[in-house]
Amino acid sequence: MKKKVIAIIVVLGVMIYSNISTCNLIYAQSAMINVSARHCTNLDGKWQIIIDPAGAGDWRQVWKERKPEKKTDFFEYSFEGGPSFNVPGDFNSQMTELKYYEGTIWYKKSFDYNSEKNKRIFLHFGAVNYLADVYLNGNLLGKHEGGFTPFQFEITNSVHNGGNTIVVRVNNQRLKDGIPGLGYDWFNYGGITRDVNLVETDNSFISDYFIQLKKHSLSEVLGWIKLNGPQTRQNVEIKIPELKIDFKTKSDDSGLAEVKFSSGFELWSPEKPKLYKVIFQCETDTIVDNIGFRSIEVKGPKILLNGKPVFLKGINIHEENPFRAARAFSESDASILLSWAKELGCNMVRLAHYPHNENMIRLAEKMGIMVWDEIPVYQQIEFSMPGVSDKMDLMMREMVDRDKNRCGVIVWSLSNETSPSPARDKALVNLTDKCRHLDSTRLITSVINDEKYSNNAVNVWDTLYRHFDIISLNEYMGWYVPWQGRPGDVKWSFVCKDKPIVISEFGGEALYGNNKGPKDEAASWSEEYQEQIFKDQVEMLKTVPDLCGTFPWLLVDYRSSGRMHPLYQNGWNRKGLLSDHGDKKKAWYIMKAYYESTKNSY
Ligand code: GCU
Repeated sequence: MKKKVIAIIVVLGVMIYSNISTCNLIYAQSAMINVSARHCTNLDGKWQIIIDPAGAGDWRQVWKERKPEKKTDFFEYSFEGGPSFNVPGDFNSQMTELKYYEGTIWYKKSFDYNSEKNKRIFLHFGAVNYLADVYLNGNLLGKHEGGFTPFQFEITNSVHNGGNTIVVRVNNQRLKDGIPGLGYDWFNYGGITRDVNLVETDNSFISDYFIQLKKHSLSEVLGWIKLNGPQTRQNVEIKIPELKIDFKTKSDDSGLAEVKFSSGFELWSPEKPKLYKVIFQCETDTIVDNIGFRSIEVKGPKILLNGKPVFLKGINIHEENPFRAARAFSESDASILLSWAKELGCNMVRLAHYPHNENMIRLAEKMGIMVWDEIPVYQQIEFSMPGVSDKMDLMMREMVDRDKNRCGVIVWSLSNETSPSPARDKALVNLTDKCRHLDSTRLITSVINDEKYSNNAVNVWDTLYRHFDIISLNEYMGWYVPWQGRPGDVKWSFVCKDKPIVISEFGGEALYGNNKGPKDEAASWSEEYQEQIFKDQVEMLKTVPDLCGTFPWLLVDYRSSGRMHPLYQNGWNRKGLLSDHGDKKKAWYIMKAYYESTKNSY
C-alpha cells in the first residue's frame, strides 16, 4: 500500500514537473549590455541551499516554499535550518561531499524591494552552470541552458513591494544533447558561478550597443544603439570627450539608431592598450563604457592588427583559481591568471573552452592582452540531435552579445576538436555564417585536430577550414603523437592555402617537482620530459609555413575528473606550465625564452 502511494506521488510529481517544463517553456531574455555600469543591487553573498540528488524537489515543488498550517501538515523539505553557499561560487568546492556532485541544488535568496514609478527591474545572472529554472515568489520566471553566459528576466510586474524570494533550481548533470556534451576534459563546476544583480532602468533605456571600427578602416566607426521600452523614437548621442566627438542621431520605431562617425583614434594594441570613455545617451538614459578601437583582419596568410602583421603569443587558460581548486569568478582571480600570462611574455590568451567571466575579458583588454573567446562546442557534440544546433546558436549569440564591444577580443572560436561528419560540417558552417552576420569585424575560427601524421609529415586535410579566417590546429607531437623524425624536419601540407596558421594547442604532462624519473620516458611524468617536448616543439614550429601564433596547452594545471593517475594526476590535468600552486615548471622557461625571441610584429 505504502509503495503504491509513493508510486502515485512520484507519477503525479513527474506529471506536474513535465507540465511545467513542456507547456510552460519560458526562456530567459538575452541580457542587456554592460550591466556593471548600471544601477544595480547586488544579490551576491550567502544563498540558502537544498541538495537534491534524487530530483525530489521537482515534484515536492520546493519553489513554493510551503509552510505547515494545520497541526497535521508537514513538508519534506526546508531551506530554513539548512546550509548556505556563497554566490558567486561553484557548489562542488563548497562542501567536501559535493566534490564530484553532478545533479540538482536549489538556491534561495530573499531581498527587499521598494518599487519606484516609471522604473523597470530585471533579475540578471552572470552565469549558472548548467540548467537554471528561476522562480520569483513561487512563480516560474523562466529557464536558461548553458553554463557560461549571462541571462536575465524582467520582473517589473512580478516583484513585490517589500519582501521577495528568488528560488533557483540549478542542475549540472551532463546531457547527451548538451553543449558541452557528455565528455569533456575540465571540471564540471556546477552552481551560480557568477554575480547576480537586480538591475533598475528607466521605462525606456539603452539595452544594447555595438561600436567598433569598420572592417579594413583605422578611423571609421560603424555600429548601432538599441533602445528598449515604449519611447522608441528618441534623440540619441554618442560622446567621446577626449576626442571631442559628439555624434547625434535619432532612433527609429523599433528603437534602433545607426552609428557612423570617424576620428583620428589612438589605436588599441598590446603595446598601448588605449581605451576611451564613451558615453551613450538618449533622452531617458545614459550609460558609460570604456572602449578601444583597433582593426583586425587577415590578408593572405597574415593576421593584421591595425594594418600590421602580428604574431599571436598566446597561452590557453581554464577559468579556475588553482589555489582554491575552484571556479574563478572575481577580478582578483582574473588578475592572477592574466599576470602569469603577461609574465610568460604573451600578448594573447585563449580562454578555453567557454566564455569566461566578463571581468576577465575587460581586465585582459586593459592589460593589453588580446582575447580568443570560445563557446563550449567541444569534442563529443551530438550534432544530429534535435535542438543541438539551436543551443549552439544561442551560446554563440550570448557570447557575441556580451563581448562585441571589447576590442581586446579579436577571435570568435566556435568549436574545439569535433569529430568530422557531414552533420558537424553543416552545423559549423551554419554557425560560422551566423556569427559573421552578427559581427563581421572579428576573425572567426574553429579548432580542429584531425590532421594525419606519417613519415614525419603532417597532412592538414580538413576542408572545413575553408570557412574560417584562421587555420587553428591542435597537435600533440611528443605526447599523444610520438615524434616520427627530427622535430626540425617535419613537413606540412595544407588543403586550404593562403590562410594564417595558428597552433592552438600543444604540450604534455609533468608533475611539478618530479625530477627523478627517466628523462626520456613519458610515463615518468617528469618536468624534464615536458621540458624536452617544448624544446622540440620550438624546433618544429620553425617548420610551419605562415605560422601566425602559438598557444601552449596550458598555463596552469587544472582539475579534470578523467585524469586518474594516482601518483601524478589525482584528478588534475598536469599539462600546465605552472603547477596547481603556481610553481614554474621547467617547460615554462622554454616557452618564455621562445616568446622573448619572437617578434610581436614581423
Ligand atoms: C585536447 C583539448 C583540451 C584537452 C587537451 C589534453 O586537445 O582540446 O581541452 O584538455 O587536449 O589532452 O590535455
